[in-house]
Amino acid sequence: MAEAVIDLAGEAAMLDLGRRIAGHARIGDAIALEGGLGAGKTTLARGILEALGLAGEAPSPSFAIVQPYDVPEVRLPVAHVDLYRLDGPEEVEELALGDYLMDSLLIIEWPDRLGDRLWPHALRLTIEMAADDARRLTAAVPDAWTERWSQI
Ligand SMILES: Nc1ncnc2c1ncn2[C@@H]1O[C@H](COP(=O)(O)OP(=O)(O)OP(=O)(O)O)[C@@H](O)[C@H]1O
Ligand SMILES: [Mg+2]
Repeated sequence: MAEAVIDLAGEAAMLDLGRRIAGHARIGDAIALEGGLGAGKTTLARGILEALGLAGEAPSPSFAIVQPYDVPEVRLPVAHVDLYRLDGPEEVEELALGDYLMDSLLIIEWPDRLGDRLWPHALRLTIEMAADDARRLTAAVPDAWTERWSQI
């Protein structure tokens, strides 16, 4: 597990990082987006979805909780998930998120709701507020992403 830090000054930089990550994403990957309210999690997810071919801006899944996308709307199936409103492990259990890993890329906002049940192969990206309204992103890169991350 390696760690990498990227400074992102502005929304455009966040979207662009998402686009670059999309170029390496595969079915079965989990990308966990951590960070407080307004950190930029959905923005990063939007960059990924846009690069996978989504026309128009992806909605925040904060009310739907799970927003699925399928081919041909996107190049590979994606489940964009926001766990913010979930109350406990039982509700997480009901979502059966593991099932999406069989045939989709899983993008999860507020993965802390999973407790210690986040998959070990997940790419964990933590976004923090920085000076001048910029963001600092810290990537915890699992073995499954080492090679790919070096190309991002
Ligand atoms: N790197 C960045 N620098 C400055 N502003 C950014 C950056 N990335 C995103 N933003 C801005 O931050 C705001 C919040 O972004 P976003 O909705 O993606 O956050 P979020 O983490 O998904 O929030 P929530 O927890 O409410 O879902 C938006 O106005 C977005 O344009
Ligand atoms: Mg969001």
